[in-house]
Amino acid sequence: MGVARGGFSSRFGFIMAAAGSAVGLGNIWGFPTQTASNGGAAFVLVYLVLAFCLAYPAFMAELLIGRYGQANAVTSMQKISRNNRQKHFAFVIGFGGVICAALILSFYGIIAGWMMSYAIEPVAKLAGLTGTANWLISQSLVRNVLFTALFMSLTIFIIRRGVEQGIEKWSKRLMPMLIALLILLIIYVFTLEGAKEGFTAYLNPDISRVFEPNLLISALGQAFFSLSLGTSVMIVYGSYIAKKENLVTLGVQVTLIDVSIAFLAGLLIIPAMYVAQAQGVAIFAEDGSLISGSNLVFTVLPALFSGMGFVGLFVAFGFFVLMSIAALTSSISMLEGPVSYVVERHEVPREKATTFIGLAILVFSILIVVNLSWMLDFIAMLSTQYGQPIIAMLCCVFVGWIWHRSDVLAEIKQGNSTVEYGLFWKIWPWYIKFICPTAIALVFWHSL
Ligand code: PHE
Repeated sequence: MGVARGGFSSRFGFIMAAAGSAVGLGNIWGFPTQTASNGGAAFVLVYLVLAFCLAYPAFMAELLIGRYGQANAVTSMQKISRNNRQKHFAFVIGFGGVICAALILSFYGIIAGWMMSYAIEPVAKLAGLTGTANWLISQSLVRNVLFTALFMSLTIFIIRRGVEQGIEKWSKRLMPMLIALLILLIIYVFTLEGAKEGFTAYLNPDISRVFEPNLLISALGQAFFSLSLGTSVMIVYGSYIAKKENLVTLGVQVTLIDVSIAFLAGLLIIPAMYVAQAQGVAIFAEDGSLISGSNLVFTVLPALFSGMGFVGLFVAFGFFVLMSIAALTSSISMLEGPVSYVVERHEVPREKATTFIGLAILVFSILIVVNLSWMLDFIAMLSTQYGQPIIAMLCCVFVGWIWHRSDVLAEIKQGNSTVEYGLFWKIWPWYIKFICPTAIALVFWHSL
């Protein structure tokens, strides 16, 4: 690993950083919201299938490209290309990913800002500042701009410091705490009235809904969003992994952590919805649809915490702090995609590039905040439901059709010397070549 580029200093550090990128608002805000609005358990089932059968193989493709190229997304893919046409294709995919990451960050920072203001609200309450507390959870323009800017500043601050001191150090400490708190909260919800109904809605799928076009495309987008695919991020993170590491095991571990946390978050939020409903909070409309839409988590969780009385203030604080941090370990990865590209391709110093790109994204975020009613949903749909699966699909096409099979297998084998790779890896290059792109294309076609 070149000294100038930096890299992850330990295997645990990488797992925590890549899992940190994967685990974020997508798991704890996106997944439960999508589950609730797409038929509960049927969505969970489709999501799990797509996560393991499509997102995981695509995730490995991105990690492999990065580790082979040891550079930003565009350069890594161009190292694999053999002629100019392939180099152009590599540029389109790599740069498309960079843009997609920037677009996602522009709306992600807003929601992360909400998480931060929800974390401060119980503190304001404890201090007796009721007016401030109410303002913190209002949708006021000033509050939205302020907290988006605060969150983006933190993201910029960490990325300016680079991989080891910035990304790795933080991810390592905070991820385990989040998991522990989630589990404790699930156990608590389990004891409340109404939870049973919620567990059934979450775990007992209505198979007839499984092929609904909307459900399929949402689940596909969610699976790719959750593993941070199609955004250049995992290519860049792959490039920071040493050649001596076993990529195959690392990839499986990160996928399992990501999917498990989404699953746990659903296990908390969906039953908590029914608990809140039983307590008189309006969650469902007359026709059974959701009232709160993308605000679901911000309706359900505060209701849950306030039911805990005084202790609830501390739990709320802890939960939203950890959520903000989970969002931060994702947002730094989104910024690292574009930054590594500009630093390595245009030889701009890291700190300058980070500040400039970060501020440009923040300006765009503020534009979204001002047009919140339509723009957030639009940008989110554009980047996550279309951008990510399409770019990730092109990555699969690239690995399957342009990279020589023997070279791909050689890269998989690096750091894998003791374990002879099994049948799965013999099939994988073929799978990524035909099955993944076809399946993704089919989901799109079905949804039209
Ligand atoms: N995977 C992150 C989450 O679930 C979001 C993300 C998307 C991060 C794209 C990086 C790139 O919150």
